[in-house]
This record gives sequence, structure tokens and C-alpha cells, in this order.
Amino acid sequence: MTTSDTAHHEGPSARQEASGGGAAEIVFDSVTKRYPGQAEPAVDNLSLTIGAGEICMLVGPSGAGKTTALKLINRLIDFEEGDILIDGRGVREQNLTELRRGIGYVIQQIGLFPHMTIAANIGTVPRLLGWDKARIRDRAAELLELVGLDPEYAKRYPTQLSGGQRQRVGLARALAADPPVMLMDEPFGALDPITRARLQDEFLRLQSRVGKTVVFVTHDIDEAIKMGDRVCVLRQGGVLAQYDPPDVLLAKPVDEFVADFVGADRGLKRLSLRRVGDLRLLPAPSAKAGDDAGEARARVKQAGYETLILVDDQDHPQGIIEADKLNGRVDAALARPIGVAGRLEMPLRDALSVMLSQTGSHLVVVDDDERLAGYVSADLISAALAGTDASARAFGSEEDAE
Ligand SMILES: Nc1ncnc2c1ncn2[C@@H]1O[C@H](COP(=O)(O)OP(=O)(O)OP(=O)(O)O)[C@@H](O)[C@H]1O
Ligand SMILES: [Mg+2]
Repeated sequence: MTTSDTAHHEGPSARQEASGGGAAEIVFDSVTKRYPGQAEPAVDNLSLTIGAGEICMLVGPSGAGKTTALKLINRLIDFEEGDILIDGRGVREQNLTELRRGIGYVIQQIGLFPHMTIAANIGTVPRLLGWDKARIRDRAAELLELVGLDPEYAKRYPTQLSGGQRQRVGLARALAADPPVMLMDEPFGALDPITRARLQDEFLRLQSRVGKTVVFVTHDIDEAIKMGDRVCVLRQGGVLAQYDPPDVLLAKPVDEFVADFVGADRGLKRLSLRRVGDLRLLPAPSAKAGDDAGEARARVKQAGYETLILVDDQDHPQGIIEADKLNGRVDAALARPIGVAGRLEMPLRDALSVMLSQTGSHLVVVDDDERLAGYVSADLISAALAGTDASARAFGSEEDAE
């Protein structure tokens, strides 16, 4: 029996409307990096494939080699063993300038040039590429809009911006020449939690428009779970511990290290990854005022419930009626309020929390048009979480993407 319907789930990047300057696949093929004079490698025999247009989140304890792995891609750090391929081409075969032109790079405390305006900062790479002034100006205006900054900011200097705004400019600058690959090293690490959450949301929205291949380093497992199509967990010494979609990481950590890393509340975290609309909702018996009460009561009982949902002509829930009170015709006067209804886009964690704050183990769910969609129950939620093996593996995987 499958109670969960994961077919509707898509990773953040799968919600793509259109891809802009294209994306590229990145393959790490047995890459080892040893720093001179160090006994242990910083990155040890790392192999993984990041699909074109995917967000790969790199996590792991401090010193696990995240920044090193990232900088090997644009060759800010050199390596000798193994290879990194971008769309099939080894990074070491390519001309360095050409390679980096195809890679946007965003770091924490983005190094904006203080003596240059925001527009000039964003235009850095296009200027190097010899674009004409009008094109650079238009591109800067377009990018400011894309990262959610008023075009007015174009004329300001970096010191006249907040930390969050500067981080947006850093992002705009990295996107300027429309590179297929974006490398981001703790880009939101220095921001307060609220600004950080907003930038995460905006980055996901942006990604759904531009569809880059993103490698994103973070310390924050919650950020990794929220943003990643896949999460790569490195352990000390730059050894790959696990590389999986967030739900699989939470449902099936490969060992104690990963389980510790994702946290004891991984069950709750999984609940925030899935939405009410991902579940096959339970049919909720309903009737309109004036309908035959005996027939309505029989349907309620047959479905194993005690209550009927009163709906109007458009199927909008109006209230709840105890089945035992039904007599003659369905009477709106018998209805009590529904309380807070669940919605399809509501994370299961929120649905559970609403359910707990109201009486009863069932929550009435409405669709985007406020029509009755069914019930979500505590049992349904726990069954969805229990369906780890088959459904969690398929969760967000390629076979499953629409
Ligand atoms: N230039 C260098 N020379 C020698 N060792 C280095 C150099 N840069 C980094 N290392 C070492 O390589 C290992 C990996 O460092 P790296 O900066 O990649 O870690 P990280 O996972 O990004 O850590 P953090 O989360 O603290 O940023 C560490 O042990 C670090 O001390
Ligand atoms: Mg680092």
C-alpha cells in the first residue's frame, strides 16, 4: 500500500521555467588534492556527478575540504590526481581565462570593489569581455532586478549597502556573463537568519529562472536540505560520506557520522521537505445544505468517520457536522467552524502542527481554489515518512521527475 505520492515532488532546480545561458554537468573523477607539506590529503579520491542545472550542496565539518573541492573546479587551487570534467572537458585542458568565464564565483563577504559603483562592480566581467557600455548598463539593470534590488542602487557604492544587499550584488556580479556554472562558498554565512532565509528563497526563485549548475558550500545542514537537489557530505580528510537527495539523506543516513551530522530531528526535517499536496489525501465525505441527511450519514459512516463536511455549491467547506445529528435534510445550522484548513503547498511539518493545535487527528485540506481536497491525517503523515525504501529512493530522483 502506498499512501504517499512522491511523484509530484521535484528538487528545487526541477521547478525550472526556462533555462538561461544553459547549464553544464560537472564530474569529479577520483580527485585527490594534497597540499604541499601535508601528510593527509584535503580531498581524498572524490568521485561524484552533478547533473546540469542541479544544485549540489557541499557540507561537512570545518576542515573537511569543502572550500578546497570548490576551488578545484575553477582551478583557484591546482590538483594532480584524478580529473574534473565540465560537460566532458577536463578543467586542466582548458585555457584558464576561458574556464573561469564559464564559472560564476560567490563567496562570503563578497569582495566588491569599494571605489566602484554597484553597476561597475556588476559589469566587471562583461567589461573584460569587451561588451559595449550600453549592453553592460542594460545587463546591470537586468541583474539588479533579478536579485531583487532597486535599479536605483546602480549608482551607489558598496559601503552604502547593507550586508544582505552587498551579497545580492555579489550574486549579480557572478551571474553577469551568464555562466553555466556557479560556485558559492558560504554566500549567506554572515547574514542574520531572517535576511539569510529571504536570500535563500530568492536564490531558489532565481535558480528556477536561470537554471545554473550550482555547487554551494555551507555549514548549515538546514540550508543544505532546503536548497539542494543533492547533498554531498564530506567527512574529515575530504572523504565522501554520502551523496544523495535531501530526503534520502534524512531517511537513510549511511552511517552514524551522517546521522549525527543531519541531526537527531531528521524525522521532523523530512516533514518540512514534503508538502500536503505530495500525499494522496483521504477522501472527505461532504454534502450541501438541503441534501438528504440519511444518505450523507451513511457515506460518513461507511468511510469510517463521525463527521460530515458541509460545502457550498462551489465545494468550498463551510463547516463540520456531527453525523449523528443528521436528520431529514442537511441543515447548515448544525455546522461548527472548520478552524484552520490545510493547504496543498503546506509543508507536512506545518500541517502536523495545525493538527496538534486543533482537536482531532484529521485536517481538512483545501486546494488553490479553496475547494475541498480531502483530509490529511496523522497516520497518513507517518505512513508517508515510513515509506523510506521505495519512495524515498525515488524521491527527487531522475526517474521520478516529471
Ligand atoms: N593552502 C593550504 N595549505 C595547506 N593546507 C591547507 C591549505 N588550505 C587548506 N588547507 C587544509 O586543508 C583542509 C581542508 O580545508 P578547507 O578550507 O577545504 O576546509 P573547509 O571544509 O572549507 O573548512 P571550513 O568549513 O572551515 O571552511 C584543512 O585541513 C586545511 O587546514
Ligand atoms: Mg571553507
